[in-house]
Amino acid sequence: MLHVHILKAKDPAEVGKLAADQFEALINTKPACVLGLATGSSPLPLYRELIAREKAGKIDFSRVRSANLDEYKGLAPDHPQSYRYFMQENLFNHISIKPENTIVPDGLAADVDAMCAAYERQIEEWGGVDLQLLGIGHDGHIGFNEPDSQFSTMTHEMPLTQMTREANKRFFNSIDEVPTAAYTMGIGTVMAARKVVMIVTGRDKAEILKKSFFGPVTPEVPASILQFHPDVTVICDEAACELL
Ligand code: F6R
Repeated sequence: MLHVHILKAKDPAEVGKLAADQFEALINTKPACVLGLATGSSPLPLYRELIAREKAGKIDFSRVRSANLDEYKGLAPDHPQSYRYFMQENLFNHISIKPENTIVPDGLAADVDAMCAAYERQIEEWGGVDLQLLGIGHDGHIGFNEPDSQFSTMTHEMPLTQMTREANKRFFNSIDEVPTAAYTMGIGTVMAARKVVMIVTGRDKAEILKKSFFGPVTPEVPASILQFHPDVTVICDEAACELL
């Protein structure tokens, strides 16, 4: 039995508004909720909408906590291509969330196992993720959980596939500058969230969207595991749901 709700929107801007509705509803009923956040192009209209809604007095981020999905290995927080920098620029610097209430895996961790364990512990101490935001990679990755022979469990280091490095090189000067590994929440971390909201936009995501939710559940398509999550909402634009 598929528990996935699919919300279809006209374009990425409308996707952002529908996703923001989910965040607004949660934050207004649970002001100290825990958000799982994502980077990339897909969440940008959502983040712009959330900033506008706080400015309009509709949401208050001052008690919200957030844990990001992933970070590139080897990039410092002030590196312009790091995910910490992305979050500061595109969301955190413009809302009232407290800096100490935002966590992103440490790209410079000397002891990777300790950093990953501490990350999981912090989420647990906060009471777990209430709403996990996801994008999806062309190969079905969520966070940086790439296609594999088994589903990962907790936060861990992950080598990046050539496809993902190619897809992300648009943010760097050249492919050589794209890190070859990342730290990411595991599939287990994502599945533990009480609610999942996935944003999918663009015709280039139509095949993988169909495969993930209407194909077999397999670690070769990491997002397909979401078919087993009890509360998933996929918000997609017309282009992305062309094959559904
Ligand atoms: C980002 C992340 C990735 C992206 C995915 C899609 O934190 O975890 O899984 O969600 O690569 O990226 P965009 O939205 O840029 O197409």
